[in-house]
Amino acid sequence: MIPMADFIYQTGFGNQFETEAEPGVLPVGQNSPQKVKGGLYTEQITGTAFTAPRNSMRRSWVYRMRPSVRHFSNLQPIDNGLIRTGPDHEGTPVPTQLRWDPFPASSLNQNWLTGLSTVATNGDSEMQAGGAVHHFVATQSMEDLAFVDTDGELMLVPYEGRLVVRTELGQLGVAPGYLAVIPRGVKFAIDLVDSTARGYVCENYGAAFDLPEHGLLGPDANALPRDFEYPVAKYDDSESATRLVAKISGRLYATDLEHSPFDVVAWHGNLSPYRYELRRFCAVGPVIFDHPDPSIWTLLSSASDSPGTANMDFILFREHWRVAEHTFRPPWFHSNVMSELMGLIEGIYDAKAEGFLPGGISIHNSFIPHGPDSAAYEAATQADLGPVKGPDALAIMWESRYRWSPTPWAMSLPELQDDYADRWANLGREYG
Ligand SMILES: [Fe+2]
Repeated sequence: MIPMADFIYQTGFGNQFETEAEPGVLPVGQNSPQKVKGGLYTEQITGTAFTAPRNSMRRSWVYRMRPSVRHFSNLQPIDNGLIRTGPDHEGTPVPTQLRWDPFPASSLNQNWLTGLSTVATNGDSEMQAGGAVHHFVATQSMEDLAFVDTDGELMLVPYEGRLVVRTELGQLGVAPGYLAVIPRGVKFAIDLVDSTARGYVCENYGAAFDLPEHGLLGPDANALPRDFEYPVAKYDDSESATRLVAKISGRLYATDLEHSPFDVVAWHGNLSPYRYELRRFCAVGPVIFDHPDPSIWTLLSSASDSPGTANMDFILFREHWRVAEHTFRPPWFHSNVMSELMGLIEGIYDAKAEGFLPGGISIHNSFIPHGPDSAAYEAATQADLGPVKGPDALAIMWESRYRWSPTPWAMSLPELQDDYADRWANLGREYG
């Protein structure tokens, strides 16, 4: 196993990178020469249509030992396990607030893929709308098992255990406190550094996650482009047997290869996996009174066809100074059109005094009222409003224009809190 500190990265969100694991392999001045050095094959991977606007276009040229067409032969359907895809006709949105204690460890001897379970879906993968949130628990490396998701881009947010993400375009080290994004259609495998790894995964069927518009905030706040890290080319020329699993239209298929699919020796372009350290998020917030809408915490956004109405936003709530005067400082009560799914990486989220733990999940769908629980409300209305730095929490949210539909598996778990709504029971009439 490579020590995580030894990985090399290129930086800058969406940059046009070029990288080669062997010197002189990348063609100069053209993409598709008659012959590539060393007999490598030229292949293009696109993440957007050829005619997409230039500022949203994603594609990379890769130079590899075998073309990918050799990887997708003889795909045979396999059992989906607990992986579901929107529209999931087995599940339905539930008209109440939902919250789960930390998700179960499932059984032992799972790798990242076999230990992947879908918590909720929304939208429709074939319409390239919406997404899914999965939970993973792994005690084994994938090793000679590789995966490719053609339905959506994957955002991994672990809360326990370090991961080595091996991809066609290079390798990423990902630990709790980081996110990693793997574009749709890029093959990868995940190995463990520690004995166990757990985390959340968002599968985004829509437009690739992008930096959100910043309007009056300008370029230098929240997630900064230079903090996004991309891998350098690294290839595996072993001839060891590899089982490739592909997710296509919600179904899993598998094929057995006689070699590693991670055989890209060099690549250039702006479609690539990447990672981001969450504590580099330079949050902005209130400095006088009240606080802006929580959209100020948006780290990445998947746009929909309606401007400003996200297919999927990824939002990070992190430790910050609270200084607002004569203000109720936690999030206010709200009934929003957008649908929220939250997770907790570490720490205590300030709107929930208890019951929301790392590894847990909550769902507050469109127009399902929610907000600070009774204890958090009581504390915030009585608090001394001097400057105070909040708890060192990393809470995350995937917020979508589409309602989250929990899977029957998630709804059947004993970890589902049947008393969650009671957290607001003490909010009685105070007026009069
Ligand atoms: Fe909310």
